Amino acid sequence: MTIIDVITIDGPTASGKGTVAHRVADAVGFHLLDSGALYRLVALASDRAGVAQDDVDALAKLAMRLDVKFGPNRVWLSGEEVSHAIRAEAIGNRASAIAVYQPVRDALTQLQRDFRKLPGLVADGRDMGTVIFPDARLKVFLTASVEARARRRYKQLIDKGISANIEDLLRDLETRDARDRSRAAAPLRPAEDARLLDTSDMTVDQSVAQVLQWFAAVR
Ligand code: DC
Repeated sequence: MTIIDVITIDGPTASGKGTVAHRVADAVGFHLLDSGALYRLVALASDRAGVAQDDVDALAKLAMRLDVKFGPNRVWLSGEEVSHAIRAEAIGNRASAIAVYQPVRDALTQLQRDFRKLPGLVADGRDMGTVIFPDARLKVFLTASVEARARRRYKQLIDKGISANIEDLLRDLETRDARDRSRAAAPLRPAEDARLLDTSDMTVDQSVAQVLQWFAAVR
């Protein structure tokens, strides 16, 4: 059986893992899984369907039937492009809230594993190395101080034309971090065999170069 290589990049909100994962996938020619987008899609779909944030059964059902399509930097929900809509902070917060439920996570497990295709996959999220791809070739856990992450998220939103306030972002990040770390189901934590990369004082180029160097050493 061919083992398809996976590089997992986990870490907290706005740690830069999305950008780093993208760049690493491009550099090695692998597919990319942005698992957070799946939780955001469930958040958006359930919000639109009027499903309460704590209605676990309805959320899991919806997650199981999620009609999604991914393209380069774009995503469609039931045929409608929602690439921009899922990036709203309110949807990110709702995604973090519904991601605490094990049935919602279970509903998305196979969908995530199906992204593992030749020539390989770079998977970005919270539990890629611990739960979804425990046999990944390389596991990276990206961190950055909450201030550095708030600044990055602020810039990201402004660049996209979405208005933002740095104090609100800092507070939301702290709330989300605490929830993602303390939940019982697949809490955010580095896998035992993950390499830690604190990017607070690193550029994207430096972070990408470090991941590529680690991968070259294990592949
Ligand atoms: O990475 P992101 O900000 O797009 O993720 C949004 C939320 O989804 C995050 O706060 C927690 C949840 N999530 C998760 O629980 N597990 C993942 N693998 C990815 C995201």
